[in-house]
Amino acid sequence: MKLTAVAAVSENLVIGKNNSLPWNIPEDLKRFKNLTSGSPIIMGRKTYESIGRPLPNRTNIVLTQKGYSSSDKIKVFSNLDNLLNYCEDLDNEVFVIGGSEIYKLLEPYCSKLVITHVLKEFDGDAFFPINLENWKLLSSEEFTDESSQLRCEIKIYNKT
Ligand SMILES: NC(=O)c1ccc[n+]([C@@H]2O[C@H](COP(=O)([O-])OP(=O)(O)OC[C@H]3O[C@@H](n4cnc5c(N)ncnc54)[C@H](OP(=O)(O)O)[C@@H]3O)[C@@H](O)[C@H]2O)c1
Repeated sequence: MKLTAVAAVSENLVIGKNNSLPWNIPEDLKRFKNLTSGSPIIMGRKTYESIGRPLPNRTNIVLTQKGYSSSDKIKVFSNLDNLLNYCEDLDNEVFVIGGSEIYKLLEPYCSKLVITHVLKEFDGDAFFPINLENWKLLSSEEFTDESSQLRCEIKIYNKT
């Protein structure tokens, strides 16, 4: 099992506001799609509702204790142990795509982080819960999103 968390995080650690993203960065969404397509993705129920539909070409795994059951579109788990048992049998890299609760829950099982640092402060109500000081920086790449003109840095971290 190889778990990788993927997140976009502002300078003041905001990741969400009113159950949606506080920014629109098409370039980052494109990179997210390229990275995760063909792989399983794990998300919390709130993030699933915020996206509003299963993401195509990926096995969508949703953690929730209420509301949803598994179908041909999504795989639902109601507890961590069952989720981890399922992931143990997967050969692919599995991406943990948020939100805040799920990053926190799964950080101990992740071996890699792919973080888009959005180089600006934003108002928000959901925050990135992982202390990056406990992780080792492997690489960094900067880009400016053309439509929003936001500067971003994609950084990849490994467990120290
Ligand atoms: N910037 C980014 O990269 C990024 C990425 C993803 C999301 N976000 C943002 O993050 C925010 C949402 O984050 P959030 O922390 O509020 O919610 P979340 O992590 O998406 O979902 C939380 C839900 O997950 C379920 N859950 C949590 N722990 C569980 C467990 N041990 N077993 C079973 N189910 C469990 C619960 O669902 P039930 O209540 O149904 O039981 C809980 O309410 C939104 O604003 C979203 O836009 C940002």
